[in-house]
Amino acid sequence: IGRCVVAVDGPSGSGKSTVSRRLATSLGARYLDTGAMYRAITWAVLRSGVDLNDAHAVAKVAGEVDLRIGTDPEGYAVTADGVNVETDIRGADVTAAVSAVAAVPAVRALLVARQRDMIDKAGRIVVEGRDIGSVVAPDADLKVYLTASAAARAARRSAENAADVAATAADLARRDQLDSTRKADPLAQAADAVVLDSTELGIDEVVARLRELLTERG
Ligand code: C5P
Repeated sequence: IGRCVVAVDGPSGSGKSTVSRRLATSLGARYLDTGAMYRAITWAVLRSGVDLNDAHAVAKVAGEVDLRIGTDPEGYAVTADGVNVETDIRGADVTAAVSAVAAVPAVRALLVARQRDMIDKAGRIVVEGRDIGSVVAPDADLKVYLTASAAARAARRSAENAADVAATAADLARRDQLDSTRKADPLAQAADAVVLDSTELGIDEVVARLRELLTERG
């Protein structure tokens, strides 16, 4: 059982989290939710009260917060300065602000370095995010770009959060736009990524396809 790094990128609501966790469990590997790291930093930024548009101040908060995140696919804790933020980071306030915080280059540099470190220590890990195959782990054993139609993504997210579909669709479109047009490490499909569209596929079918791809690659 050697090293194995799987990078799963894609827009919000594509099924990345569920697929990545299940794949990690089935491989006996660790799992890293990089979106949760950007969300936890955003939580700390909102708590500090600094102006979201002040990149310097945002980067300062990011550098000072004690962020911890587990890598167990069956349940991982996220804490910021000792506070369990698992619920808060999924809330509307953090979701509305996270793309702005994630666009700050110094914030990304900090988190990318931590993510690389965690990947090295884990050895076998499924990592999900926006820039994993392109920036964080360009030498990953398998790179997946998971996508789905905008309608399917909005329907899934609104079911998860018991939120209005139209409002969810608008929020996803806004975040996708910000995440894919920012200058620092935008959401991108790595040239060597396998593209999977989950609009018509169930979670189990996507996981099975990824396991097949890993077996084919030895
Ligand atoms: O995946 P999730 O929806 O939790 O990610 C929240 C936000 O964090 C994304 O909209 C994006 O702005 C940012 N993010 C990122 N790079 C990653 C993971 C997430 O910029 N690798």
